[in-house]
Amino acid sequence: MNASSVQSAYSARFSAAPEITVRAPGRINVIGEHTDYNAGFVLPAAIDKAIWMAAGRRDDGRFAFYALDLDAFFISENADTIFQEQYKWANYLLGVVSEARKDGHNIGGLNVAFGGDVPLGAGLSSSAALESGAMFIFNELYNLGLSRMDIVRLAQRGENNFVGMKCGIMDMFASVISREKSVVRLDCRSLDYAYFPFDTEEYSLVLIDSGVKHTLVDSEYNTRRAECEEGVAVLKQFDPRISSLRDVSMDLLQQHEADLRPLVFRRCKFVVAEIARVEQACAALQKKDFKALGQLMFEGHDGLNLDYEVCVPETNFLVEKARNFTGVAGARQMGGGFGGCTINLVETAAMDAFLDFVRTAYEEAFGIVARVYPVHLTGGTTRV
Ligand code: GLA
Repeated sequence: MNASSVQSAYSARFSAAPEITVRAPGRINVIGEHTDYNAGFVLPAAIDKAIWMAAGRRDDGRFAFYALDLDAFFISENADTIFQEQYKWANYLLGVVSEARKDGHNIGGLNVAFGGDVPLGAGLSSSAALESGAMFIFNELYNLGLSRMDIVRLAQRGENNFVGMKCGIMDMFASVISREKSVVRLDCRSLDYAYFPFDTEEYSLVLIDSGVKHTLVDSEYNTRRAECEEGVAVLKQFDPRISSLRDVSMDLLQQHEADLRPLVFRRCKFVVAEIARVEQACAALQKKDFKALGQLMFEGHDGLNLDYEVCVPETNFLVEKARNFTGVAGARQMGGGFGGCTINLVETAAMDAFLDFVRTAYEEAFGIVARVYPVHLTGGTTRV
């Protein structure tokens, strides 16, 4: 799948050439998990797996979407954006229209054909790519005058308010604002961000797809959010300046261990430590100290597993195999949790041997042939 295949599909379906074609990438996250909705730091990047979208305006105000990978076609009855029970995927595009209209943006009809190679359900944020890509297209074709950060926020609002998943800002941010051969540290409180070059021959990043997707991931995700909020509500009584876990130090948290439910204490402990790890990871990257970076990834995984409790036996197994393999600097489960991919920082020279070893062991243990995705860091959403 590439730009020209979606363009041909568009022309065949809508009997016209598209007015615009956009590349909306998937993302990885090096470290900083479950920190975005706690006003902390994240360290994501866009990757060379993307959704391509070809689009053009319609003058009847309706929305017509063709999903090549599903070979599915949706067309709205009129200009209204109504949640689609039957065409769930169409909600990612309708949601951004609904949110942009709340801000007074005048959006007319649109034809879109899209498809890509972001694996679905692997935690690489194909839905965020689709939402951000759609918002990018509306902005271009209807001259909405939005900044890239406006696009990010509207895409997140579409997911939160229309699709109904209470995700943070990381995925859309990474898809839209990333830069080639760099990771980007986002401060999810101020929305300031800084690029860090990730440009080394010696180490490579690779994703190993556990092939497991927990069906409860959305409800568990929302439960973790609520547990963090519970922690903040308790800690605030001792210091009214606290409005998120970003404002909480490990010292303060430990001082109030007895005031929190034990489970809530562990959730908060993970988040406070993980926010600090992002800053340590950036310092390591600046020094090109990949061993230190990798160590932080392992520590992050242990926190996700023991304190945040969002890991599964399959991803724990993949990370343990990585930990015991000479030449792997770091590994951890990536994304919201309960399966998906692990991200591995590996000496390039050891890569083939490591992948052979880990895939064989995984197949023996779980009967699953793990897919692997070498990672190349690319720029964010663009017109092609
Ligand atoms: C999902 C969410 C993100 C983020 C991660 C965990 O990918 O969409 O906003 O919270 O989980 O870091």
